[in-house]
Amino acid sequence: MIFEANSHETFREEAHKLVDLIADHLKMSHSEGLQKTIGRIPPEEQLGFWREDFKSKEPMDLQDFWSKVFSRSINVHSRGYLGHQISVPLPLTALTSAAIGYMNNSTTVYELAMVGNTMEKVIIEHLAGKFGYDGDSEGFVTSGGSLGNLTALLKARSSSGIDSKDYSRLAIMVSEEAHYSVERAASILGVSRENIVKVPSDESFRIRTDLLEGIYSEAVSAGKLVFCVVGCACTTSVGAYDDLAAIADFARTHGIWFHVDGAHGGVAVFSDKYRHYLDGIEHSDSLVLDFHKMMLVPSISTAVIFNARNRGANAFSPKADYLWQAGGAGAWYDSAKHTLECTKPISVLHAYAIMRVYGEEIYRQHVDKLYDLGRSFADMVKGQAGMELAVEPSCNIVCFRCLSGAGEDGDDRLNKRIYEELLEEGLFYIVSTTIRGRFYLRVSLMNPMTDAETLEELLKDIVKRTV
Ligand SMILES: Cc1ncc(COP(=O)(O)O)c(C=O)c1O
Repeated sequence: MIFEANSHETFREEAHKLVDLIADHLKMSHSEGLQKTIGRIPPEEQLGFWREDFKSKEPMDLQDFWSKVFSRSINVHSRGYLGHQISVPLPLTALTSAAIGYMNNSTTVYELAMVGNTMEKVIIEHLAGKFGYDGDSEGFVTSGGSLGNLTALLKARSSSGIDSKDYSRLAIMVSEEAHYSVERAASILGVSRENIVKVPSDESFRIRTDLLEGIYSEAVSAGKLVFCVVGCACTTSVGAYDDLAAIADFARTHGIWFHVDGAHGGVAVFSDKYRHYLDGIEHSDSLVLDFHKMMLVPSISTAVIFNARNRGANAFSPKADYLWQAGGAGAWYDSAKHTLECTKPISVLHAYAIMRVYGEEIYRQHVDKLYDLGRSFADMVKGQAGMELAVEPSCNIVCFRCLSGAGEDGDDRLNKRIYEELLEEGLFYIVSTTIRGRFYLRVSLMNPMTDAETLEELLKDIVKRTV
Protein backbone atom coordinates (compact mmCIF):
# COMPACT_ATOMS: atom_id res chain seq x y z
CA MET A 1 0.00 0.00 0.00
CA ILE A 2 2.61 2.57 1.06
CA PHE A 3 4.67 1.81 -2.06
CA GLU A 4 1.67 2.07 -4.36
CA ALA A 5 0.67 5.34 -2.69
CA ASN A 6 4.12 6.70 -3.48
CA SER A 7 4.09 5.71 -7.13
CA HIS A 8 5.24 8.51 -9.41
CA GLU A 9 3.27 7.01 -12.32
CA THR A 10 -0.02 7.14 -10.42
CA PHE A 11 0.82 10.64 -9.27
CA ARG A 12 1.56 11.83 -12.79
CA GLU A 13 -1.70 10.41 -14.08
CA GLU A 14 -3.85 11.83 -11.26
CA ALA A 15 -2.12 15.19 -11.29
CA HIS A 16 -2.74 15.65 -15.00
CA LYS A 17 -6.41 14.87 -14.45
CA LEU A 18 -6.67 17.37 -11.63
CA VAL A 19 -4.95 20.08 -13.64
CA ASP A 20 -7.43 19.43 -16.46
CA LEU A 21 -10.30 19.62 -14.03
CA ILE A 22 -9.08 22.94 -12.60
CA ALA A 23 -8.50 24.40 -16.07
CA ASP A 24 -12.03 23.36 -17.12
CA HIS A 25 -13.44 24.81 -13.92
CA LEU A 26 -11.67 28.09 -14.59
CA LYS A 27 -12.92 28.13 -18.18
CA MET A 28 -16.47 27.55 -16.97
CA SER A 29 -16.10 30.26 -14.28
CA HIS A 30 -14.90 32.79 -16.85
CA SER A 31 -17.47 31.89 -19.49
CA GLU A 32 -19.79 34.54 -20.81
CA GLY A 33 -22.92 33.85 -18.78
CA LEU A 34 -22.63 34.36 -15.05
CA GLN A 35 -21.94 31.01 -13.37
CA LYS A 36 -23.27 30.05 -10.00
CA THR A 37 -21.01 31.08 -7.12
CA ILE A 38 -22.57 29.03 -4.38
CA GLY A 39 -24.96 26.12 -4.15
CA ARG A 40 -25.84 26.59 -0.53
CA ILE A 41 -26.15 23.33 1.37
CA PRO A 42 -27.34 23.47 4.99
CA PRO A 43 -24.59 22.44 7.45
CA GLU A 44 -26.44 19.34 8.70
CA GLU A 45 -26.99 18.09 5.18
CA GLN A 46 -23.36 18.65 4.29
CA LEU A 47 -22.33 16.84 7.47
CA GLY A 48 -24.59 13.88 6.71
CA PHE A 49 -23.18 13.65 3.20
CA TRP A 50 -19.53 13.55 4.27
CA ARG A 51 -20.22 11.20 7.16
CA GLU A 52 -21.72 8.77 4.69
CA ASP A 53 -18.93 9.32 2.22
CA PHE A 54 -16.28 8.73 4.88
CA LYS A 55 -17.95 5.49 5.99
CA SER A 56 -18.09 4.13 2.47
CA LYS A 57 -16.20 0.93 1.86
CA GLU A 58 -16.15 1.55 -1.91
CA PRO A 59 -12.67 2.26 -3.24
CA MET A 60 -12.37 5.99 -3.70
CA ASP A 61 -12.25 7.22 -7.23
CA LEU A 62 -10.28 10.49 -7.18
CA GLN A 63 -12.18 12.04 -10.08
CA ASP A 64 -15.44 11.38 -8.29
CA PHE A 65 -13.94 12.79 -5.09
CA TRP A 66 -12.88 16.06 -6.75
CA SER A 67 -16.24 16.37 -8.36
CA LYS A 68 -18.00 16.07 -4.98
CA VAL A 69 -15.59 18.54 -3.35
CA PHE A 70 -15.86 21.15 -6.09
CA SER A 71 -19.63 20.92 -6.52
CA ARG A 72 -20.24 21.29 -2.78
CA SER A 73 -17.89 24.26 -2.32
CA ILE A 74 -18.12 27.96 -3.05
CA ASN A 75 -16.56 29.06 -6.35
CA VAL A 76 -14.48 32.17 -5.74
CA HIS A 77 -13.51 32.27 -9.42
CA SER A 78 -17.06 33.09 -10.47
CA ARG A 79 -17.53 36.77 -11.32
CA GLY A 80 -20.41 36.75 -8.85
CA TYR A 81 -18.03 36.13 -5.93
CA LEU A 82 -18.32 39.40 -4.03
CA GLY A 83 -18.09 38.06 -0.52
CA HIS A 84 -15.54 38.03 2.25
CA GLN A 85 -12.01 39.27 1.79
CA ILE A 86 -10.25 36.19 0.59
CA SER A 87 -8.34 36.35 -2.63
CA VAL A 88 -9.37 34.89 -5.93
CA PRO A 89 -6.03 33.18 -6.38
CA LEU A 90 -4.12 33.34 -9.62
CA PRO A 91 -4.03 29.97 -11.40
CA LEU A 92 -0.25 30.08 -11.03
CA THR A 93 -0.73 29.60 -7.30
CA ALA A 94 -2.46 26.25 -7.81
CA LEU A 95 0.97 25.19 -9.09
CA THR A 96 2.94 26.84 -6.29
CA SER A 97 0.51 25.21 -3.83
CA ALA A 98 1.30 21.82 -5.28
CA ALA A 99 5.03 22.48 -5.04
CA ILE A 100 4.77 23.79 -1.47
CA GLY A 101 2.79 20.74 -0.41
CA TYR A 102 5.04 18.28 -2.17
CA MET A 103 8.32 19.75 -0.97
CA ASN A 104 7.00 20.33 2.53
CA ASN A 105 9.93 22.51 3.52
CA SER A 106 9.33 24.16 6.87
CA THR A 107 10.81 27.55 7.68
CA THR A 108 11.48 26.58 11.32
CA VAL A 109 15.22 26.47 10.85
CA TYR A 110 17.33 27.48 7.91
CA GLU A 111 18.19 24.01 6.62
CA LEU A 112 14.55 22.90 6.58
CA ALA A 113 13.62 25.68 4.16
CA MET A 114 16.73 27.27 2.76
CA VAL A 115 14.83 28.77 -0.15
CA GLY A 116 11.70 29.73 1.80
CA ASN A 117 13.57 31.50 4.59
CA THR A 118 15.68 33.40 2.10
CA MET A 119 12.74 34.38 -0.10
CA GLU A 120 10.97 35.70 2.98
CA LYS A 121 13.91 38.00 3.66
CA VAL A 122 14.03 39.18 0.06
CA ILE A 123 10.29 39.89 -0.08
CA ILE A 124 10.19 41.55 3.35
CA GLU A 125 13.14 43.81 2.51
CA HIS A 126 11.46 44.77 -0.73
CA LEU A 127 8.12 45.53 0.90
CA ALA A 128 9.76 47.39 3.77
CA GLY A 129 11.39 49.68 1.22
CA LYS A 130 8.07 50.24 -0.54
CA PHE A 131 6.38 51.18 2.73
CA GLY A 132 9.16 53.66 3.44
CA TYR A 133 10.66 51.77 6.38
CA ASP A 134 14.33 52.09 7.25
CA GLY A 135 16.73 50.19 5.02
CA ASP A 136 17.55 47.23 7.22
CA SER A 137 14.03 46.58 8.49
CA GLU A 138 13.05 43.03 9.24
CA GLY A 139 10.09 40.76 9.28
CA PHE A 140 8.75 37.42 8.18
CA VAL A 141 5.81 35.70 6.64
CA THR A 142 3.30 34.14 8.97
CA SER A 143 -0.08 32.45 8.82
CA GLY A 144 -2.64 35.20 8.71
CA GLY A 145 -3.37 38.74 9.76
CA SER A 146 -4.67 37.64 13.15
CA LEU A 147 -1.41 35.90 13.99
CA GLY A 148 0.49 38.80 12.43
CA ASN A 149 -1.26 41.35 14.62
CA LEU A 150 -0.60 39.20 17.68
CA THR A 151 3.10 38.88 16.86
CA ALA A 152 3.45 42.62 16.27
CA LEU A 153 1.72 43.48 19.55
CA LEU A 154 3.92 40.98 21.35
CA LYS A 155 6.96 42.76 19.99
CA ALA A 156 5.43 46.10 20.94
CA ARG A 157 4.99 44.87 24.50
CA SER A 158 8.50 43.49 24.76
CA SER A 159 9.93 46.73 23.35
CA SER A 160 7.97 48.89 25.75
CA GLY A 161 10.29 48.28 28.66
CA ILE A 162 7.26 47.74 30.90
CA ASP A 163 8.09 45.33 33.69
CA SER A 164 6.07 42.11 33.60
CA LYS A 165 4.89 42.74 37.16
CA ASP A 166 3.01 45.75 35.75
CA TYR A 167 1.34 43.83 32.92
CA SER A 168 -2.06 44.10 34.61
CA ARG A 169 -1.91 47.85 33.76
CA LEU A 170 -1.06 47.36 30.09
CA ALA A 171 -3.36 49.23 27.72
CA ILE A 172 -3.66 49.73 23.97
CA MET A 173 -5.59 52.29 21.94
CA VAL A 174 -7.43 51.19 18.87
CA SER A 175 -10.27 52.37 16.67
CA GLU A 176 -13.70 51.01 17.47
CA GLU A 177 -13.72 49.89 13.82
CA ALA A 178 -10.56 47.75 14.04
CA HIS A 179 -10.68 44.07 13.17
CA TYR A 180 -11.53 41.89 16.15
CA SER A 181 -8.15 40.15 15.92
CA VAL A 182 -6.50 43.24 17.40
CA GLU A 183 -8.66 43.09 20.50
CA ARG A 184 -8.16 39.33 20.71
CA ALA A 185 -4.37 39.74 20.40
CA ALA A 186 -4.39 42.32 23.17
CA SER A 187 -6.35 40.04 25.48
CA ILE A 188 -4.01 37.14 24.75
CA LEU A 189 -1.20 39.46 25.88
CA GLY A 190 -3.04 40.00 29.12
CA VAL A 191 -4.58 43.40 28.40
CA SER A 192 -7.82 43.58 30.34
CA ARG A 193 -11.06 44.41 28.57
CA GLU A 194 -11.27 47.89 30.09
CA ASN A 195 -7.68 48.58 29.05
CA ILE A 196 -8.43 47.96 25.39
CA VAL A 197 -9.23 51.59 24.85
CA LYS A 198 -11.61 52.00 21.92
CA VAL A 199 -11.32 55.29 20.09
CA PRO A 200 -14.54 56.43 18.39
CA SER A 201 -14.63 56.82 14.62
CA ASP A 202 -15.98 59.71 12.55
CA GLU A 203 -18.80 59.68 9.98
CA SER A 204 -16.39 58.10 7.48
CA PHE A 205 -15.49 55.38 10.00
CA ARG A 206 -11.94 56.69 10.41
CA ILE A 207 -10.44 56.88 13.87
CA ARG A 208 -11.10 60.29 15.53
CA THR A 209 -7.52 61.51 15.74
CA ASP A 210 -8.76 64.70 17.42
CA LEU A 211 -9.68 62.54 20.43
CA LEU A 212 -6.40 60.66 20.77
CA GLU A 213 -4.71 63.10 23.16
CA GLY A 214 -7.69 63.40 25.52
CA ILE A 215 -8.29 59.66 25.61
CA TYR A 216 -4.61 59.01 26.22
CA SER A 217 -4.43 61.49 29.11
CA GLU A 218 -7.50 59.96 30.68
CA ALA A 219 -6.01 56.48 30.39
CA VAL A 220 -2.70 57.59 31.90
CA SER A 221 -4.50 59.38 34.77
CA ALA A 222 -6.34 56.13 35.47
CA GLY A 223 -2.96 54.38 35.87
CA LYS A 224 -3.03 52.59 32.52
CA LEU A 225 0.25 51.90 30.72
CA VAL A 226 -0.54 52.55 27.07
CA PHE A 227 2.14 50.74 25.09
CA CYS A 228 0.63 50.68 21.61
CA VAL A 229 -1.76 52.45 19.26
CA VAL A 230 -3.14 50.63 16.23
CA GLY A 231 -4.10 52.23 12.92
CA CYS A 232 -6.35 50.60 10.33
CA ALA A 233 -5.40 50.50 6.67
CA CYS A 234 -8.14 49.76 6.12
CA THR A 235 -11.00 48.72 8.41
CA THR A 236 -12.78 45.48 7.65
CA SER A 237 -16.40 46.46 7.71
CA VAL A 238 -16.47 49.46 5.37
CA GLY A 239 -12.84 49.67 4.22
CA ALA A 240 -11.95 53.04 5.83
CA TYR A 241 -8.31 54.16 6.00
CA ASP A 242 -7.28 55.86 9.24
CA ASP A 243 -5.18 59.03 9.14
CA LEU A 244 -1.87 57.26 9.70
CA ALA A 245 0.22 60.42 9.68
CA ALA A 246 -1.78 61.88 12.57
CA ILE A 247 -1.58 58.64 14.55
CA ALA A 248 2.18 58.52 13.91
CA ASP A 249 2.56 62.03 15.35
CA PHE A 250 0.56 61.06 18.38
CA ALA A 251 2.58 57.87 18.93
CA ARG A 252 5.88 59.69 18.53
CA THR A 253 4.86 62.37 21.04
CA HIS A 254 4.20 59.75 23.70
CA GLY A 255 6.86 57.23 22.73
CA ILE A 256 4.39 54.43 22.18
CA TRP A 257 4.46 51.71 19.54
CA PHE A 258 2.47 52.39 16.38
CA HIS A 259 1.22 49.28 14.62
CA VAL A 260 -0.68 49.39 11.31
CA ASP A 261 -3.15 46.66 10.45
CA GLY A 262 -2.79 46.74 6.67
CA ALA A 263 -4.07 43.19 6.22
CA HIS A 264 -6.43 44.24 3.46
CA GLY A 265 -5.55 47.77 2.39
CA GLY A 266 -1.77 47.75 2.77
CA VAL A 267 -1.79 46.59 -0.84
CA ALA A 268 -2.40 50.22 -1.89
CA VAL A 269 1.39 50.50 -1.65
CA PHE A 270 1.52 49.10 -5.20
CA SER A 271 -0.77 51.76 -6.64
CA ASP A 272 0.30 55.25 -7.71
CA LYS A 273 -3.34 56.25 -7.61
CA TYR A 274 -4.21 54.97 -4.12
CA ARG A 275 -0.82 54.99 -2.35
CA HIS A 276 -1.75 58.26 -0.63
CA TYR A 277 -4.10 56.38 1.70
CA LEU A 278 -0.97 55.04 3.38
CA ASP A 279 0.72 58.39 3.96
CA GLY A 280 2.37 58.24 7.37
CA ILE A 281 2.78 54.45 7.39
CA GLU A 282 6.53 55.02 6.99
CA HIS A 283 6.56 56.30 10.59
CA SER A 284 4.88 53.22 12.03
CA ASP A 285 6.84 50.65 14.01
CA SER A 286 5.21 47.59 12.51
CA LEU A 287 2.64 46.55 9.96
CA VAL A 288 0.91 43.49 8.60
CA LEU A 289 -0.09 42.83 5.01
CA ASP A 290 -2.10 39.76 4.01
CA PHE A 291 -0.98 38.24 0.72
CA HIS A 292 -4.11 36.09 0.77
CA LYS A 293 -6.47 39.02 0.65
CA MET A 294 -5.52 41.46 -2.10
CA MET A 295 -2.39 39.82 -3.50
CA LEU A 296 -3.94 36.95 -5.43
CA VAL A 297 -2.43 34.33 -3.15
CA PRO A 298 -4.34 31.40 -1.62
CA SER A 299 -4.81 31.27 2.14
CA ILE A 300 -2.83 31.79 4.19
CA SER A 301 0.21 34.06 3.98
CA THR A 302 0.92 37.34 5.75
CA ALA A 303 3.87 39.69 5.93
CA VAL A 304 4.77 41.16 9.32
CA ILE A 305 7.31 43.96 9.05
CA PHE A 306 9.13 45.83 11.79
CA ASN A 307 10.62 49.23 11.15
CA ALA A 308 14.37 48.99 11.79
CA ARG A 309 14.23 52.11 13.89
CA ASN A 310 12.63 50.15 16.71
CA ARG A 311 13.85 46.64 16.43
CA GLY A 312 15.94 46.69 19.58
CA ALA A 313 14.05 44.07 21.54
CA ASN A 314 13.48 40.63 20.13
CA ALA A 315 10.11 39.33 21.24
CA PHE A 316 11.29 35.75 21.08
CA SER A 317 14.46 34.06 22.05
CA PRO A 318 13.29 30.54 22.72
CA LYS A 319 15.78 28.02 23.98
CA ALA A 320 15.69 24.88 21.89
CA ASP A 321 19.00 23.13 21.67
CA TYR A 322 17.52 20.47 19.39
CA LEU A 323 16.75 23.13 16.77
CA TRP A 324 19.72 25.45 16.91
CA GLN A 325 22.89 25.63 18.90
CA ALA A 326 24.46 28.68 17.37
CA GLY A 327 23.46 31.72 15.38
CA GLY A 328 22.01 33.78 18.23
CA ALA A 329 18.41 34.72 18.85
CA GLY A 330 18.26 37.19 16.00
CA ALA A 331 19.46 35.08 13.05
CA TRP A 332 17.12 35.98 10.19
CA TYR A 333 17.29 32.57 8.56
CA ASP A 334 15.77 30.54 11.41
CA SER A 335 12.15 31.58 11.18
CA ALA A 336 10.98 30.02 14.45
CA LYS A 337 13.15 32.48 16.34
CA HIS A 338 10.82 35.24 15.25
CA THR A 339 7.38 33.76 14.72
CA LEU A 340 4.80 32.14 16.95
CA GLU A 341 4.87 29.17 14.64
CA CYS A 342 7.42 26.39 14.74
CA THR A 343 6.53 24.35 11.65
CA LYS A 344 5.47 26.76 8.91
CA PRO A 345 5.06 26.20 5.16
CA ILE A 346 6.97 28.25 2.63
CA SER A 347 3.86 30.20 1.73
CA VAL A 348 5.99 33.12 0.57
CA LEU A 349 6.57 31.11 -2.61
CA HIS A 350 3.20 32.26 -3.96
CA ALA A 351 3.82 36.01 -3.75
CA TYR A 352 7.44 35.60 -4.79
CA ALA A 353 6.46 33.63 -7.91
CA ILE A 354 3.71 36.09 -8.83
CA MET A 355 6.03 39.08 -8.58
CA ARG A 356 8.80 37.25 -10.41
CA VAL A 357 6.59 36.01 -13.25
CA TYR A 358 4.31 39.02 -13.71
CA GLY A 359 6.16 41.80 -11.93
CA GLU A 360 4.57 44.23 -9.49
CA GLU A 361 2.58 45.63 -12.35
CA ILE A 362 0.03 42.90 -11.77
CA TYR A 363 -0.67 44.24 -8.27
CA ARG A 364 -0.87 47.82 -9.51
CA GLN A 365 -3.47 46.78 -12.06
CA HIS A 366 -5.31 44.63 -9.55
CA VAL A 367 -5.62 47.36 -6.91
CA ASP A 368 -6.49 50.08 -9.39
CA LYS A 369 -9.11 47.96 -11.09
CA LEU A 370 -10.84 46.77 -7.92
CA TYR A 371 -10.68 50.10 -6.10
CA ASP A 372 -11.98 51.87 -9.22
CA LEU A 373 -14.74 49.28 -9.49
CA GLY A 374 -15.72 50.02 -5.89
CA ARG A 375 -16.28 53.63 -6.89
CA SER A 376 -18.26 52.64 -9.99
CA PHE A 377 -20.47 50.37 -7.96
CA ALA A 378 -21.05 53.13 -5.40
CA ASP A 379 -22.14 55.42 -8.26
CA MET A 380 -24.56 52.74 -9.47
CA VAL A 381 -26.06 52.47 -5.98
CA LYS A 382 -26.40 56.24 -5.71
CA GLY A 383 -28.13 56.30 -9.08
CA GLN A 384 -30.70 53.76 -7.94
CA ALA A 385 -33.87 55.06 -6.31
CA GLY A 386 -34.56 53.39 -2.97
CA MET A 387 -30.95 52.50 -2.20
CA GLU A 388 -28.25 54.17 -0.17
CA LEU A 389 -24.57 53.79 0.59
CA ALA A 390 -23.27 53.46 4.14
CA VAL A 391 -20.34 55.65 3.16
CA GLU A 392 -18.41 56.61 0.03
CA PRO A 393 -15.97 53.73 -0.47
CA SER A 394 -12.23 54.26 -0.24
CA CYS A 395 -11.40 50.86 -1.62
CA ASN A 396 -13.09 47.75 -3.02
CA ILE A 397 -15.47 47.28 -0.07
CA VAL A 398 -18.90 48.80 -0.56
CA CYS A 399 -21.71 48.71 2.00
CA PHE A 400 -25.21 49.67 0.95
CA ARG A 401 -28.84 48.93 1.64
CA CYS A 402 -32.29 49.11 0.17
CA LEU A 403 -34.81 51.44 1.74
CA SER A 404 -38.16 49.91 2.50
CA GLY A 405 -40.08 53.10 3.23
CA ALA A 406 -41.13 51.41 6.49
CA GLY A 407 -38.50 52.83 8.84
CA GLU A 408 -35.18 51.41 10.02
CA ASP A 409 -36.59 48.09 11.25
CA GLY A 410 -38.37 47.67 7.92
CA ASP A 411 -35.07 48.37 6.14
CA ASP A 412 -33.31 45.73 8.21
CA ARG A 413 -36.01 43.16 7.43
CA LEU A 414 -35.96 43.93 3.71
CA ASN A 415 -32.17 43.73 3.40
CA LYS A 416 -31.99 40.52 5.45
CA ARG A 417 -34.55 38.93 3.16
CA ILE A 418 -32.70 40.05 0.04
CA TYR A 419 -29.44 38.74 1.45
CA GLU A 420 -30.97 35.32 2.19
CA GLU A 421 -32.61 35.12 -1.23
CA LEU A 422 -29.38 35.99 -3.05
CA LEU A 423 -27.52 33.34 -1.12
CA GLU A 424 -30.22 30.79 -1.82
CA GLU A 425 -30.16 31.48 -5.54
CA GLY A 426 -26.35 31.45 -5.55
CA LEU A 427 -25.49 33.46 -8.65
CA PHE A 428 -23.91 36.07 -6.42
CA TYR A 429 -22.24 35.64 -3.09
CA ILE A 430 -22.35 38.86 -1.12
CA VAL A 431 -22.14 39.30 2.64
CA SER A 432 -23.64 41.61 5.23
CA THR A 433 -22.47 43.81 8.06
CA THR A 434 -23.93 45.82 10.90
CA ILE A 435 -23.18 49.51 10.76
CA ARG A 436 -24.23 51.78 13.60
CA GLY A 437 -26.66 49.07 14.63
CA ARG A 438 -28.23 48.61 11.18
CA PHE A 439 -28.10 45.76 8.68
CA TYR A 440 -26.25 46.51 5.45
CA LEU A 441 -25.44 44.49 2.37
CA ARG A 442 -21.72 44.38 1.74
CA VAL A 443 -19.63 43.52 -1.29
CA SER A 444 -15.87 43.19 -1.42
CA LEU A 445 -14.71 43.18 -4.99
CA MET A 446 -11.98 40.58 -4.86
CA ASN A 447 -12.26 39.05 -8.30
CA PRO A 448 -10.40 40.84 -11.10
CA MET A 449 -12.78 39.17 -13.58
CA THR A 450 -15.78 40.94 -12.03
CA ASP A 451 -16.79 43.85 -14.23
CA ALA A 452 -19.31 46.69 -14.26
CA GLU A 453 -21.84 44.49 -16.10
CA THR A 454 -21.70 41.91 -13.32
CA LEU A 455 -22.45 44.63 -10.80
CA GLU A 456 -25.28 46.04 -12.89
CA GLU A 457 -26.73 42.53 -12.99
CA LEU A 458 -26.43 42.30 -9.22
CA LEU A 459 -28.23 45.59 -8.70
CA LYS A 460 -31.00 44.60 -11.11
CA ASP A 461 -31.39 41.35 -9.25
CA ILE A 462 -31.60 43.17 -5.92
CA VAL A 463 -34.09 45.75 -7.17
CA LYS A 464 -36.29 42.92 -8.45
CA ARG A 465 -36.41 41.55 -4.94
CA THR A 466 -37.46 44.80 -3.27
CA VAL A 467 -41.01 44.57 -4.60
C1 LIG B 1 -8.23 44.52 8.72
C2 LIG B 1 -8.08 43.06 9.04
N1 LIG B 1 -7.13 42.66 9.90
C3 LIG B 1 -6.94 41.37 10.22
C4 LIG B 1 -7.74 40.40 9.65
C5 LIG B 1 -7.51 38.97 10.03
O1 LIG B 1 -6.77 38.36 9.03
P1 LIG B 1 -6.72 36.77 8.86
O2 LIG B 1 -8.07 36.35 8.45
O3 LIG B 1 -5.68 36.59 7.81
O4 LIG B 1 -6.30 36.20 10.18
C6 LIG B 1 -8.75 40.76 8.76
C7 LIG B 1 -9.61 39.74 8.15
O5 LIG B 1 -10.56 40.01 7.45
C8 LIG B 1 -8.91 42.11 8.42
O6 LIG B 1 -9.85 42.53 7.56
